[in-house]
Amino acid sequence: MSHNKKQCVLVCQNRSCKEAGSAEVWAAFESAETKDYKVIAADCQGQCSCGPTVRILPEETWYYRVQPSDVPVIVEQHLKGGKQVEEKLNPRIHMRFSF
Ligand code: FES
Repeated sequence: MSHNKKQCVLVCQNRSCKEAGSAEVWAAFESAETKDYKVIAADCQGQCSCGPTVRILPEETWYYRVQPSDVPVIVEQHLKGGKQVEEKLNPRIHMRFSF
């Protein structure tokens, strides 16, 4: 019953992320061509102070402070191109795994 095998874009829609504009981020992913990735409105992902939080599965890529203008870049580069968008990686999570 895990989501982990599926390709998903989780866009946090909990309070802190909503206040930072995550509804617009979700809408931008929804209207984009996201290949095989399913766009999901998610509960709090525990990264509230650096939202809007976008978490991509199964690769466990965490993007932070995502704005609608970042969405086309994430779609083109990551979802279609398979390459992480370095400047939007959540440093709290990715610094541990970087090298
Ligand atoms: S409210 Fe979005 S990560 Fe907590």
